[in-house]
Amino acid sequence: MSSKIIFVTGANRGIGFAIVQALATRFPSHTYLLGVRSLPSGHEAIQSLKALGLTSTAFEAIQIDITSDPSIASAVFLIKEKHTRIDILIPNAAIAERVKPGDQDFRASCNRTLDCNVTSFLVLASSFLPLLHASCTPQVIAISSARGSVHHLTTSQVPPTASIPYNISKTALNVAMLEMAKLESGVLWQAASPGHCKTAFNGWMGKKDPLDGARVVVELVADREQGDEGRLGMGFWEFEQGSLRSVEW
Ligand SMILES: NC(=O)c1ccc[n+]([C@@H]2O[C@H](COP(=O)([O-])OP(=O)(O)OC[C@H]3O[C@@H](n4cnc5c(N)ncnc54)[C@H](OP(=O)(O)O)[C@@H]3O)[C@@H](O)[C@H]2O)c1
Repeated sequence: MSSKIIFVTGANRGIGFAIVQALATRFPSHTYLLGVRSLPSGHEAIQSLKALGLTSTAFEAIQIDITSDPSIASAVFLIKEKHTRIDILIPNAAIAERVKPGDQDFRASCNRTLDCNVTSFLVLASSFLPLLHASCTPQVIAISSARGSVHHLTTSQVPPTASIPYNISKTALNVAMLEMAKLESGVLWQAASPGHCKTAFNGWMGKKDPLDGARVVVELVADREQGDEGRLGMGFWEFEQGSLRSVEW
């Protein structure tokens, strides 16, 4: 298995951190670039990964605010200079503000959410395309949510939301990913639903440990290790009840 360069945004905490931890445990010879808004939080995360026993794996903190074009450009530049390519891009960073229509800040909150969770995905993914094209097996795993599934929403499989803009943003993220896949068929595009995890996102109310939430990503990466195309291909995936399965859009 050749060593891969993997870049995860929002990797200093929550599911992003768990994704790095779970991947590094399964694939210790890959290199992990932790996209973080503040470098000290990235260095702290790397210390925590080392303290968890991941001492032989290469980790590096990369400063990136996904809502800032100059910040994205600077991350692309730094990674290109040192690593020349990205094999797997994992856009994970997102926000969920608790607002409802009628709240004073609703318009601004909607715009912030869609900017961070959708527009920034598109800008990030397109900015990293040259580095992805430098890989033999380029793969993008966008961290979505079951709340983005129109099927789940229309079949009452998800409880009422505390944030309508967040739900909309995850449906839009899925569509954004499908559109990118049409434009860039040389890249394997996948959306992943981690499930309801205990993180700051939901005031630690989630049912799953973030490491269990990261399992879907580990399985998608492992699948791609089987061959150039991967067995699973483009789609919306989750790991629930002990197996990897597709989520209805
Ligand atoms: N938790 C769940 O139950 C759940 C369920 C389904 C899907 N998800 C998805 O899983 C992903 C991670 O969620 P989480 O629960 O781990 O959230 P979290 O604990 O709140 O962590 C969010 C991460 O995103 C980063 N971030 C936020 N805005 C950013 C920006 N503008 N630029 C760069 N980084 C930014 C944060 O950085 P700072 O530390 O600097 O704030 C943090 O690292 C999200 O896409 C979320 O939608 C979560």
